[in-house]
Amino acid sequence: MSQKLRSYDWFGKNDKMGFVHRSWLRNQGYPDDYFQGKPVIGICNTWSELTPCNAHLRDFAEVVKRGIVEAGGFPLEFPVMSLGETIMRPTTMLFRNLASMDTEESIRANPLDGVVLLTGCDKTTPSTVMGACSVDLPTIVVPGGPMLNGRFRGQCVGSGSFNWLIKEKQHVENYTAEDIHEMEVGVARSQGHCMTMGTASTMACMMEALGLTLPGMAAIPAADSRKKLMAQLSGRRIVEMVKEDLKISKILTRQAFENAIVINAGIGGSTNAIIHLLAIAGRLGVELNLEDFDIIGSKVPLLANLKPAGKYLMEEFFYAGGLPVVIRELKQYIHNEAITVNGKSIGENNAHAPCYDQEVIASADKPLLKEAGIAVLKGNLCEYGAIIKPSAATPALMKHRGKAVVFKSIEDYHQRIDDPNLEIDENSVIVLQGVGPVGYPGMPEVGNVDLPEKLLRKGIKDMVRISDGRMSGTAAGTVVLHVSPESAIGGVLALVKDGDMIELDVENRKLHLDISDEELAKRKAAWTPPPPQADRGYVKFYIDHVQQAHLGADLDILRGGSGSEVTRDLH
Ligand code: FES
Ligand code: MG
Repeated sequence: MSQKLRSYDWFGKNDKMGFVHRSWLRNQGYPDDYFQGKPVIGICNTWSELTPCNAHLRDFAEVVKRGIVEAGGFPLEFPVMSLGETIMRPTTMLFRNLASMDTEESIRANPLDGVVLLTGCDKTTPSTVMGACSVDLPTIVVPGGPMLNGRFRGQCVGSGSFNWLIKEKQHVENYTAEDIHEMEVGVARSQGHCMTMGTASTMACMMEALGLTLPGMAAIPAADSRKKLMAQLSGRRIVEMVKEDLKISKILTRQAFENAIVINAGIGGSTNAIIHLLAIAGRLGVELNLEDFDIIGSKVPLLANLKPAGKYLMEEFFYAGGLPVVIRELKQYIHNEAITVNGKSIGENNAHAPCYDQEVIASADKPLLKEAGIAVLKGNLCEYGAIIKPSAATPALMKHRGKAVVFKSIEDYHQRIDDPNLEIDENSVIVLQGVGPVGYPGMPEVGNVDLPEKLLRKGIKDMVRISDGRMSGTAAGTVVLHVSPESAIGGVLALVKDGDMIELDVENRKLHLDISDEELAKRKAAWTPPPPQADRGYVKFYIDHVQQAHLGADLDILRGGSGSEVTRDLH
């Protein structure tokens, strides 16, 4: 090895501090030579029984350790805050930045030379990667993998996608509690995260697209033995990465982010990837902004026929060849020379990826949709931008003018949406305020609010919905999200009133509140901010420091990095 290991500062010396650093670790039985120049690899584990999607990662850590030891490294597993999407209240997004701080400080403060990030559920990927970027050691991601396809009464059902239909099933098909319980186990029948192309699968694919995983890693189901095999190989590889000093900043270049944007379009990935990629780039000082997603991604063809935009699930995606096929098919859109964790370029890694099922992964010349990606909207309703995912929207609604029906909060929405006297029809535009980063707080996935019961009964499937919140990667609809600035800090969204006309024109990237400038100025002057959502603790800290959605909703003080150096010791 050419360079001195970072861990040498802890373990290499034969003075009092060297003794202290080694001795207590020795209570786990490590022999002398573990402290004599072996690369120390941290396995950052987001395992938790409260994060069902990551509950198998303890086993995975053992497999990763196997690989590390084989390659001559010294593995040390450590826990970080885990974020379980389906359980944590009010929303895991409130804690993504906190978990990133946990990861960052855990890595920096410890004698690590390289890191393996074990991830799964939605936020566990961006949070750990953001933290790792702010330290900048050699880093490899091992995504835990999707669950096997959901099966219910003879049909394939996608976890995360099916729940959006429950209201409809109950009201229209009269589903009972028993029906629902049967469905529950059917959609979650193995270890792993959501097997739709929701946020977790999207983020795993983003990691592969960025070059942070071994090639072919993202789509392998958690229960498939090949996932463990790849985890073991990742353990071997991180030791080599330390020897090569292949830091995360060398991989996560502007080119890598551009590749991720293209590939996210090709897979019909989650809108949440926007926020997470912006936040990750912010940690590295890579210039990336919201408009880039439209400029780089919106002309890219949709290839992956996966729910929620398409028909299939991650298991079929894997059997069809997985992300390598998409990367190869999109080679004219990406930077093929971008380097990945295995030391080879992304183009080289995927050049010969075979497609085994063109029904699941289409070719670039016969795509499912000529232009996928994300449209970034501008207008007086969203000065800094808002987004919509055209591939998940209803074509007929992409140009729409309708009367606003305004809900002040999610509680207000729940209280009134099914009121038979609510003045609303299928042409109305549902406006939801107070669900942005500051307002909720934490910018939850509520943007795709259910339609009113009376319209569902009429057979209406979609309506234009606008909010400063997010939407689950498993959801679909003509939903305008991430409106910035948000209503809680006085964005124009806060000033919309019932009956105002709103114009959505996706083709021209426009979102407009059709009231006069004088009226708008009058409403602005009369606006008073809502009371803050917390006056102490992390939530107060979050509200005071969180940036708006178009910047990735990271905390302002967390942008950038502090490197890996720690100059002071504990005595
Ligand atoms: Fe964890 Fe969907 S709930 S990935
Ligand atoms: Mg989610």
